[in-house]
Parts: sequence; C-alpha cells; structure tokens
Amino acid sequence: MTYSAAVSGASGYAGGEILRLLAHHPDVEIRTVTAHSSAGDPLVAHQPHLRSLRHLEIQPTTPEILAGHDIVFLALPHGQSGQYTDALGDAGLVIDAGADHRLTSEDAWNAFYGGAFHEPWTYGVPELIVAGGRQRENLVGATRIAAPGCNASTVSLSMAPGVAAGVVDPTDIVSVLAVGPSGAGKALKPHLLGSEILGSANPYAVGGTHRHIPEIQQALRAAGAADPRISFTPVIVPMARGILATTSAPIAGDATDAEIRGAWESAYGDETFVQLLPEGQMPRTSDVTGANTALIGLAIDRAANRVVVVAAVDNLAKGTAGAAIQSMNIALGLPEDRALTVNGVAP
Ligand SMILES: NC(=O)c1ccc[n+]([C@@H]2O[C@H](COP(=O)([O-])OP(=O)(O)OC[C@H]3O[C@@H](n4cnc5c(N)ncnc54)[C@H](OP(=O)(O)O)[C@@H]3O)[C@@H](O)[C@H]2O)c1
Repeated sequence: MTYSAAVSGASGYAGGEILRLLAHHPDVEIRTVTAHSSAGDPLVAHQPHLRSLRHLEIQPTTPEILAGHDIVFLALPHGQSGQYTDALGDAGLVIDAGADHRLTSEDAWNAFYGGAFHEPWTYGVPELIVAGGRQRENLVGATRIAAPGCNASTVSLSMAPGVAAGVVDPTDIVSVLAVGPSGAGKALKPHLLGSEILGSANPYAVGGTHRHIPEIQQALRAAGAADPRISFTPVIVPMARGILATTSAPIAGDATDAEIRGAWESAYGDETFVQLLPEGQMPRTSDVTGANTALIGLAIDRAANRVVVVAAVDNLAKGTAGAAIQSMNIALGLPEDRALTVNGVAP
C-alpha cells in the first residue's frame, strides 16, 4: 500500500527536512505541500535542494487542502497547528512537529507557551525509557503523534537511562547546549542574522525560561524521576544544523562505574539510532549531520561526583523530521528504519 501524504510548513526548515526524508520513502507519496506566505510558489523556490520534488507547488494551509490524505505532517509555528488538527478527523495519521500536542500538563503549557491548550498526543521518541518499557510500544498503531522538541529529546535521551536505573540524582541536572540557528526556524529574526552569529557564541533563554524544560521534565518523569529539576542553557553557535548537549547530574548513592555505564549500555545496546560510544570517546555534531542518529558519550567525573553525558544530534533529522518519520513507520507497522540512515555527512 502507498500512503498519500500532505506536508504543511513545507517552505520551512522542519517541513523541508520531512520532505527530504519522505522523498526516499517507498511507501509514501508526497501529494500536497502547503505553507503560508509562500503559497502559490514552486516548492523548489524555497527548498532548492529538493530536486525530486520540483513538480510540486505550495498551496495555502487550510483544513480543506490538508483533508483527504492518509498522513498529514504539520510543521508550523507553535500555536498554529491546533486549529488544523481539530479539523483533520478523517486523516489516518497526523504528526505535529510543533509543540501544540507535546505537553500533558496544561499548567506547564500556560507557564511556558500560553494560548489555547490542546490535548497531548503520543510522544514521538521511540527509544525513550518509559514505565514498563519503551515509548516505541506506545507508538504502535498511534494515529496522532507529537514529534519532539529537538533540544528536549536530546537531553531526555541523554539522561533517561541513568534516571531509570537510579544511578543519577534527577533533582540536579545541568545541561548546556551548543545549537545551530536552524533550530529556531527560517523566518527572519535579527538576532539570527549571519552578522550576529558568525564568529560568536550567543546564549539565550537563560535562567529557566526555555520552552523545552517542561518537555524534558515530562520525559524524565516517564522514565521514573519523581521531581526532575534541570538548569538548561542553550548557546547558539555558527553551524547551520546540530546540537551538542552536555548534560550532567550527581551520581546517586554509591553507584559503581560499572553500574553507571551499564545503565546506558543496556538502554541503548540494541538500538539502531541511539548509540553509546566506547569509553573515552565523545561525539561531534558533524558525525550526525543528516543522520537519524543520537550519538552519546559518557564520562564519570568522580572528583565532581557527576555523570557527564555528551550527545550529538542533528536538530532537523533525529531532532524533528527523522523522529517524525521513525514514529510514523512504527505507527504504520513498517520497518522502523525505513527511509532513515544512521550515517552522517562528513566532513
Ligand atoms: N527547526 C527545528 O530544528 C525544529 C526542531 C523541532 C521542532 N520544530 C518545530 O517545527 C515547527 C516548524 O519549525 P521550523 O523551524 O520549520 O520553522 P520555519 O522554518 O520558520 O517554518 C515555518 C513554516 O510554517 C509556515 N507558517 C508560518 N505561519 C503560518 C500560519 N499562520 N499558517 C500556516 N503556516 C504557517 C511557514 O510558511 P511561509 O514560509 O509560507 O510563511 C513555514 O512553512 C515549529 O513548531 C518548531 O518548533 C523545529
């Protein structure tokens, strides 16, 4: 069976990456692409790298145009997708790359986003440890999926194994992330101009205000933390794509080095797309560019009494579009890795 798909937000970064990956998916036909101010333009006027889709024209994003497809991807600014999702009752599968359906707590939504709260959908990070298993089991047969925030899933995947195994203290997590500006989207913003970020490292949302904080706490609660607390500081650095998250937490009790490393080894030893590097090795963002891979390095700092996890993720691939398509594959009963690669683009 071939599934028909509509991709909204097709002129943007997340929509563009969904299209790049879907273009190689043998079970999906990209039938419709939609956006907002670019409606009426050829898709390649905004995504000139998507040569195999040069026949497509961008249409306006309306419930009527999105209706009638087997799969609808929403890659819109947060707060926009909720209005469409209510009207997409007939779509077999809807996947939202935005934040509108990620949070289960209305209080957290109001505190960090504001505006109308929409019901939570199945969270699209298959490898996450959740009570009694993995999130992939919840994705089987799902019809509404919330793809993750890129920083949020990177940090959650970094810490969930240690939290679930009880070898780290989840009340004192500190995460500092080097992030590429594509994580903030393509829309023109003065602080993201080349002249502002080239040759500079620029922190933002410092001091507990970043919107991905409640999403990380939600994931770590699912992994077993009663009261996860995180200090979270992203720093924009001059690389188009990529996240390098350095996340640490105190060692819990008298956990041994073997128990600590064993927690991550047993969590990810059988995973394709989340890989723990051998002891002493750390990942680089360039190792995962274009790949659906989260690459993790782990160090145990006994002097500081902390476990340090360094994770590299391509924000547009494993951080968004790859997670969306991996989750789609699981929901539809297709091979989980279809149209996805573990190999990055180097140099
Ligand atoms: N960038 C990432 O790394 C990343 C990672 C995880 C999740 N996400 C999420 O994915 C979503 C899209 O992010 P992005 O980075 O792709 O942003 P973006 O590059 O700015 O693209 C936004 C897209 O939404 C369209 N749009 C804007 N306002 C709209 C409206 N009122 N109605 C319909 N369409 C509208 C734009 O169309 P026009 O260009 O035609 O106006 C464009 O296609 C966001 O919710 C974001 O949080 C992004």
